[in-house]
Amino acid sequence: MRVSKEDLKSLIKNKLHKAGLNEEHASTAADVLVFADERGIHSHGAMRVEYYAERIAKGGMNTNPDFKFEKTGPATGVFHGDGGNGHTAAKLAMDEAIKMAKESGVAIVGVRDISHSGAISYFTNQAAESNLIGFSVCQSDPMVVPFGGAEPYYGTNPIAFAAPSTDNRKMTLDMATTVQAWGKILHARSKNQTIPDTWAVDGNGEPTTDPYKVNALLPISGPKGYGLAMMVDVLSGVLLGLPFGNKVSSMYENLSEYRKLGQLHIVINPEFFMGITGFQKDISQSMDDLNGIKPAPGFDKVLYPGQNNDVVIADYKENGIEIVDDIYDYLKSDVIHNNQYDHKNPFAE
Ligand code: NAI
Repeated sequence: MRVSKEDLKSLIKNKLHKAGLNEEHASTAADVLVFADERGIHSHGAMRVEYYAERIAKGGMNTNPDFKFEKTGPATGVFHGDGGNGHTAAKLAMDEAIKMAKESGVAIVGVRDISHSGAISYFTNQAAESNLIGFSVCQSDPMVVPFGGAEPYYGTNPIAFAAPSTDNRKMTLDMATTVQAWGKILHARSKNQTIPDTWAVDGNGEPTTDPYKVNALLPISGPKGYGLAMMVDVLSGVLLGLPFGNKVSSMYENLSEYRKLGQLHIVINPEFFMGITGFQKDISQSMDDLNGIKPAPGFDKVLYPGQNNDVVIADYKENGIEIVDDIYDYLKSDVIHNNQYDHKNPFAE
């Protein structure tokens, strides 16, 4: 079904607030989740609300954290999340990075001790909206084999980047460092479908086409994706003195314990390099260049990175955001959660 952006945001905010999150953080979290849904990134939108609500209700997210920003140098800082809502902490940390980059030309801000922060292009988009280049990486729970390994070590450790153009468009990248998201495995299970043997491995580290035999996901392009996941873990975990690698806390286990995830924002101010006007003009030019590239057989058009999301935004703006009926029914109901994410449940990962 289709629902307006305003209604979706208000339904999500109310549910998270009802679960126990303070109103301000519930509102920011709802904003980040709707940002994902309105771009067609449904894996990180309203679909996650029941999981968050369960974690909040069971005490696994600090609902009134003591957020603190510690400036550690002329252009560096650490935002202390105190086990609180990741969406809100990462957003406030990006606000601080933007302020510093406006003054110093660059800013690097670590965010520590937070819960899951969702689709991380929300934060790089904040930078691009301020005429800055945004870069962000974060840790996630271990479910990916290192190249050549038979057991998981890193998470799906995503990377996001955004650069502003002249006409409010943004060149963006927002990707997990795995071939496919875990949600796609669950989807194949629910539909009784096989999966391509390039997505995941079984308990012996052998590629599998049976979604029920999946023990871990595969990194993109073998050792290259593995290396990117390492880079993300070093920047958003080790650098901040946080648990790293396979010691990162699990998303769906220990729902009554705060998570201690890390994220790192880097912001670059083009004004300190070629100047913002020329930069934005050239970004627009490369977007137009890309759109003008001759498409390969089977493609109508070459899209600039992130343009696929812009196409979805335009449709949803006109017709409402598409939401799975069950998720809408849950959001409208009085139910907070159904113990859906108890880790004993084989579908709970
Ligand atoms: P994806 O595979 O759907 O897209 C990856 C990138 O490819 C995006 O930048 C997208 O704009 C671009 N793209 C896709 N089709 C395109 C086309 N035709 N032309 C040009 N560009 C195109 O993304 P993925 O890897 O499934 O990640 C989904 C979300 O999951 C992201 O928002 C990510 O931040 C989030 N995530 C969050 C985690 C967390 O712990 N917070 C962990 C892992 C992922």
